[in-house]
Amino acid sequence: MSTFYLTTPIYYVNARPHLGHACTTIMADAMCRYRRLAGDRVYLLTGTDEHGERIAQVAAAAGKSPQAYADEISAVFRETWRRLGITNDDFIRTTEPRHRKVVQEVLQRLHDAGEIYFGEYGGWYCYGCERFYTEKEIVDGKCPDHQTALTFVKEKNYFFKMSKYQAWLIKHLEDNPGFIQPERYRNEVLGFLREPLQDLSISRPRSRLEWGIPLPFDDQYVTYVWFDALLNYYSAVADPENPKTQGLWEHVEHVIGKDILKPHGVYWPTMLKAAGIPLYRRLHVHGYWSLGGSKMSKSIGNVVEAFQLTDKYGHDAFRYFLLREMNFGLDANFSEEAFVDRLNADLANDLGNLASRATTLIAAGGAVSQVAAPIEPGDREIYVTATETKSLVAHAMGEFAFQKALAELWSFIGAVNRYVDTNAPWALAKDPAKRRRLERVLCTLADSLGFLGIMLDPFLPDAARKIREALGQSAPPALEAAVVGRLTSVPRVTKISGLFPRVDTKAPAATLAPPGRGPGEGASREGAGGDGGKIAITDFQKVELRVAEVLAAERVPKSKKLLKLSIRVGEETRTLVAGVAEHYEPGDLVGRKVVIVANLQPATLMGVESNGMVLAAEHGGTLSLITLDRDLPTGAKVK
Ligand code: MSP
Repeated sequence: MSTFYLTTPIYYVNARPHLGHACTTIMADAMCRYRRLAGDRVYLLTGTDEHGERIAQVAAAAGKSPQAYADEISAVFRETWRRLGITNDDFIRTTEPRHRKVVQEVLQRLHDAGEIYFGEYGGWYCYGCERFYTEKEIVDGKCPDHQTALTFVKEKNYFFKMSKYQAWLIKHLEDNPGFIQPERYRNEVLGFLREPLQDLSISRPRSRLEWGIPLPFDDQYVTYVWFDALLNYYSAVADPENPKTQGLWEHVEHVIGKDILKPHGVYWPTMLKAAGIPLYRRLHVHGYWSLGGSKMSKSIGNVVEAFQLTDKYGHDAFRYFLLREMNFGLDANFSEEAFVDRLNADLANDLGNLASRATTLIAAGGAVSQVAAPIEPGDREIYVTATETKSLVAHAMGEFAFQKALAELWSFIGAVNRYVDTNAPWALAKDPAKRRRLERVLCTLADSLGFLGIMLDPFLPDAARKIREALGQSAPPALEAAVVGRLTSVPRVTKISGLFPRVDTKAPAATLAPPGRGPGEGASREGAGGDGGKIAITDFQKVELRVAEVLAAERVPKSKKLLKLSIRVGEETRTLVAGVAEHYEPGDLVGRKVVIVANLQPATLMGVESNGMVLAAEHGGTLSLITLDRDLPTGAKVK
């Protein structure tokens, strides 16, 4: 059994939890759940960072003491993680005595060892980041992170001799390529280290800031917030009397967002080295979420409260979206449309439909204690796919590549959905001579659902539990048991319905409406008067239909359904997003003349602004674009 100790950053209590915080915490949680499934000893730490200038400032602005303010917001974080189903083993606060004690011990040790000296420094300081910026890092005279003006600060302080460790750290990074991952962030840190490394100011004068841990060797100073905060990872497990945390430190790994790479990639390892504490094993760095292209941060103001969306669409769906949509290490863009798109396509359609039709079929077929029918190649293919999926997921999780792990699981779900279509158990059920074959098919389906009930647990904990419960499994899930092909019976199951209800998008459709809510149908409902659902000609005339020519077409990244079209309408060229990617290749459309709704309000779909809607007819899953039977110029009116 291996030991895995994972930490999230500790979050500042100057703002309430938002999507960015939730993303890191959910990633850490999914990883820990996966490692628990694998049978490892796992410990997950999160918490709040409560000292420093910015906390003191917001507390003062709210007319509260910093401690009262920190108590309040820290409790909100704790409660948020509870509601999101985060399985943290501890929640540390930097105002706790256990933390303060360790910080002071480490400071004293470094001071005694001559690693800390008193000196004066002047430099450009960002109050938001609570750090100095070097000339090279400053962008247009502003903080690169907050885009706010920097202040020149000159004062006497205590300094940690960080510069002394520059050569050592470079060598450590070169000798240990996995120390910081993905590799681009290791390279970024090596990039910082190409410039001379400064010593680190680790104190703030009390005359300016009271809210911090006093230096044990000079009570006129408090500890710099980063020096204090980083030590939380260690102070949480440093109590030799606590059996729960013994032997954890040597296994520590951190997950952070890219904004705090420098403190974690440079300050922290040099601090540990100087203090004689073993280094962390790996640092995992993820990218940033932006909203409509602009970075999300509390100071910029476009914050999403995590709960607004979790409450609206459910915790599992929210967790799934964050894990599936972000390539670990790269930035991602958040939009409610993209969220709903994934929810409908991956969760409601692929997984939800599979769970519901498989359990319905198995329940109708009834339990069988011993399945005697021979195994056919199609059955074996599912067994093999499951084994391959399991090892691909293991590999992806080894790299924190949640998106890849989920893509693999979804390709297994696709394979099982196709297995159902090919074997048509509903048809087998009608023919008594095919009863044995039916039993084999149902056994494979139950087995596949059992596999998903385990494998999905880290990513969709509630749904995975429902699947296991439907199969009558009450034991805690274990990776060991995720094998398809061993089951020799058909269990009694309870039907699953509405695992992920489809979200009907009420917003004005800028693309083809989903089946059943086609443009004609939508218009007639909305415009219906008292005349048996009929509309007046003036209602119809509000819709401006025009001929347009497709100039270029490409897939919208990360969307199965959407194509981005560049179209000409008369003199004008526009971008339009059409939900036709499952029916037409981009190349099929270029040069075609189609009919569009030209006067729709713009809407953003998966980050692309759409200006209009292409018309198509749909029947039984087949889609056909409305085209012209005689050539007419673009812009021509359709009436
Ligand atoms: N208190 C420090 C961390 C100290 S750790 C010893 C801090 N706190 S924070 O509240 O600002 O949280 C920063 C972290 O929140 C980021 O590293 C990242 O994990 C997460 N995110 C905040 N905004 C984010 C996005 N827009 N996108 C993704 N994650 C983001 O820094």
